[in-house]
Amino acid sequence: MRRILVTSALPYANGPLHFGHILEAVQTDIWARAMRLSGHDCTYVCADDTHGTPMMLKAQAEGITPEQLIAGVEAEHRATYQDFLIDHAQFHSTHSEENREMTSRLFLALEKAGYIATRSIRQAYDAKAEMFLPDRYVKGTCPRCGTKDQYGDSCESCGATYSPSELIDAVSVVTGTPPIERESEHLFFRLDQFEAMLREWTRSGALHESVANKLDEWFNAGLRDWDISRDAPYFGFEIPGHAGKYFYVWLDAPIGYMGASLAYARRTGADFDAWWSKDSTAELHHFIGKDILYFHTLFWPAVLTGAGFRRPTQVHAHGFLTVNGAKMSKSRGTFITGRRYLERLPPEPLRYYFAAKLGPGIDDMDLSLEDFVNRFNSDVVGKLVNIASRCAGFIARGGGTLATALPQPALYEEFASARTRIASLYEARDFSTAIREIAALADRANQYIDAEKPWNLAKDPARAADVTAVCTQGINLFRVLMTYLQPVLPAMAEAAGRFLGSPIRHWDDVARPLLGTALAAYEPLATRLDPKVVATLIETDAAAAPAPAAVAPKPARAASSTAPPAAPTPAAPAEAPGEITIEDFAKIDLRVARVLAADFIEGSDKLLKLTVDLGSEQRTIFAGIRGAYEPAQLVGRHVVVVANLKPRKMRFGLSQGMVLAASGDGTGVFLVAPEEGGAAGMRVK
Ligand code: MSP
Ligand code: ZN
Repeated sequence: MRRILVTSALPYANGPLHFGHILEAVQTDIWARAMRLSGHDCTYVCADDTHGTPMMLKAQAEGITPEQLIAGVEAEHRATYQDFLIDHAQFHSTHSEENREMTSRLFLALEKAGYIATRSIRQAYDAKAEMFLPDRYVKGTCPRCGTKDQYGDSCESCGATYSPSELIDAVSVVTGTPPIERESEHLFFRLDQFEAMLREWTRSGALHESVANKLDEWFNAGLRDWDISRDAPYFGFEIPGHAGKYFYVWLDAPIGYMGASLAYARRTGADFDAWWSKDSTAELHHFIGKDILYFHTLFWPAVLTGAGFRRPTQVHAHGFLTVNGAKMSKSRGTFITGRRYLERLPPEPLRYYFAAKLGPGIDDMDLSLEDFVNRFNSDVVGKLVNIASRCAGFIARGGGTLATALPQPALYEEFASARTRIASLYEARDFSTAIREIAALADRANQYIDAEKPWNLAKDPARAADVTAVCTQGINLFRVLMTYLQPVLPAMAEAAGRFLGSPIRHWDDVARPLLGTALAAYEPLATRLDPKVVATLIETDAAAAPAPAAVAPKPARAASSTAPPAAPTPAAPAEAPGEITIEDFAKIDLRVARVLAADFIEGSDKLLKLTVDLGSEQRTIFAGIRGAYEPAQLVGRHVVVVANLKPRKMRFGLSQGMVLAASGDGTGVFLVAPEEGGAAGMRVK
């Protein structure tokens, strides 16, 4: 039995959990559950990441204390994780006594060992707000290319990197006043002292190859000291022995993994040192997104080592989730929160979909709603559940008890012996291959039942024993499949365990088939996803969604190759007046529609009332083309419609879209079907 501690990255406590967070939690949870099915002692902890300037300013903007802000967010995070069946042993907070204790302990150890340096730095300062400004809180004109409204660290237009003092006409994002430069003493962690250790650790199997290569770039760029202190006012822990200085959020955040496990250990009597001490024989696994690799593969192992603790066994990085092919975005309505999903759908279909797409590397993953519906409906409902539901009825009619022997023990053995491979695929984080192989087995199970046709056998009362035998085989194949999917579909597996009268606890449970035992009443294990409901995950009138608050840009993260911490996710460059971006254009859902009916409207000499068929639905649209068309001319014609225009209430009724037409100066109006006679240059409207 291996002793394993596993973590997901700590979500920031300044907003709701979104699908990126859920993806990461699901990946970690599946892995942890799979390790438990192998019989290992696997503890999964997480926490909210609560400190930093953005938290402080967000709380200020909302007129509450940071403590109130993080308490509210924490409650939402807990509930959402729980509803996605994320099985944390402990979900804690970095703003906790345990974390304060661990952060001080590590810092004092680092200081004592000579890994902390002090020096003075000049930094932008907002004299009105009386605070130092992180680079992202200063904006101005790029000194190289002259693009306005750029952050203090880099230009999104030309890619130049610079310091806030180089910006032209710089202003503080907090108060809008020009920042001044001010000197202040900071504490630095001497990362360069750990280069040899880190180079070795990097190649010790702790990282996927693609990640290890990334680290080589960082080594080549040189490891620089890391500024771990911030001046008051700051929401965080004051640094012992350095009054008025606070730990930078990224120092106490990973220590939050220790804080959370310490809280768990104190609550349950588990052995904290067995996980963390220098000579620990336990395993430590961190699951993170690729954007925070620098912190987890350089700073964190170095901090642990310098303070006299063990290093991570593995850092598992995943790629980023996109929705329908693009980065999740509030303005596109594709910034899907966990809650929005849970208000509409059960958790397991999403867990299944993520599992089906997750591999061991750091490739990004796209959520396509259509694919999501198809996968779950076809694999889980169509193949897996189908086996159980078809067989359960026949067993019940035959008395409710399984046969005492399998008609095809070799087929069963083939299924059961796949468990070693499935377990190792899960351990290697190759969930997509595991799912593919399980789905292939499900196909074989269905083929078996289709070939034996118990529904035909059941017509002949003399063959009742054969019906039970075939369905006993089917139920046992189902049990193997359900066991293999338990990490992904834990609630379904639990319900299946109740139905089978035998809970699923270990891969080896399937070594022997269930024979001669009674089945409980069958309860439906899953229902099909309704594509109409799934479609509502995306907000259609997202343009109305509020823009993120200007005062709280995302905290900087170390994404670039050189420097900790570098620019966060860039915002889109500014557009010239009148110009729109391809993303803006992509928001327009243009559809060809057929005109089913066209009518005059009483009281309007401009409008016609059109009934159009979009293929999936019919709509009523009021179009200002009466001057150019007789209603009868339009029926049966194809037109181009803006299908996602916000419906508009007009005097005559609701108009559900817009028909595209073109006009010139006095040359009439033409429906967009250009062969009709429009001229080049006409304005489409
Ligand atoms: N608070 C830090 C992590 C501290 S760990 C000691 C942080 N928080 S976060 O809320 O921005 O992100 C939390 C995790 O979610 C990170 O691992 C991040 O990579 C992941 N994701 C955030 N958006 C994501 C996607 N769109 N897709 C997949 N994961 C992403 O960073
Ligand atoms: Zn520039």
